Amino acid sequence: MRFDVLTLFPEMFPGYVSQSILAKAIQRKIISIHTHDFRQWTTDKHHSVDDRPFGGGPGMVIKPEPVVECVESVRPLADQAGRIVLLTPQGRKLTQPVVEELATEERLILICGRYEGIDQRVVDLLEPDEISIGDYILNGGEVAAMVLIDAVLRLIPGVLGDAESHVDDSFSSGNRLLESAQYTRPREYRGLTVPDVLLSGNHQEVERWRAEQSLAKTKQRRADLLDDTN
Ligand code: ADE
Repeated sequence: MRFDVLTLFPEMFPGYVSQSILAKAIQRKIISIHTHDFRQWTTDKHHSVDDRPFGGGPGMVIKPEPVVECVESVRPLADQAGRIVLLTPQGRKLTQPVVEELATEERLILICGRYEGIDQRVVDLLEPDEISIGDYILNGGEVAAMVLIDAVLRLIPGVLGDAESHVDDSFSSGNRLLESAQYTRPREYRGLTVPDVLLSGNHQEVERWRAEQSLAKTKQRRADLLDDTN
């Protein structure tokens, strides 16, 4: 799967991309991530990417030309047209079913906004899938793009080894429960001990305990997940 990220801050990505699961997936050519600085597609001599909003108001608005023209230049860099995604607090919310839907694409072109917003004609011309990672306002779409990439790539076959398998993940289709508590060595730490059942070696008992814990935790913290209509 190919990710093209359009951003004013490409330098935010190398640190994230160097983390182990991602770096391995890139090395094994399962995914590729390409950042594009859309300031390079500005047409004026000051390379301005933003301007004051028509009608007045605070803040600056990203101009349409650099974004639209950057997308038009980047699109032919690969055979697949791909889906264009705009990260914006006005978008539909990124949930695990949306992540599953995005993971079926062969290519995603992610546009990261900044400042007060982006000129509406970007949306009208490119008709992106507008996606928000939650009901809070970030300084820009870059962190949101990383969240989206991180969630999507876990579902791409071959990215996770068996050890990191995602089939049991909370929120994956058919699993809407929070995970039960996990423990590793030592058996006792500062007076706190690991529940006996986990040391029993009885696999069935362990599974039953985990299922009970999982359900209880979900009821207590996220009862909304148990409601089928969500
Ligand atoms: N840009 C600013 N806030 C955002 C959010 N919550 N989700 C996606 N992109 C954003």
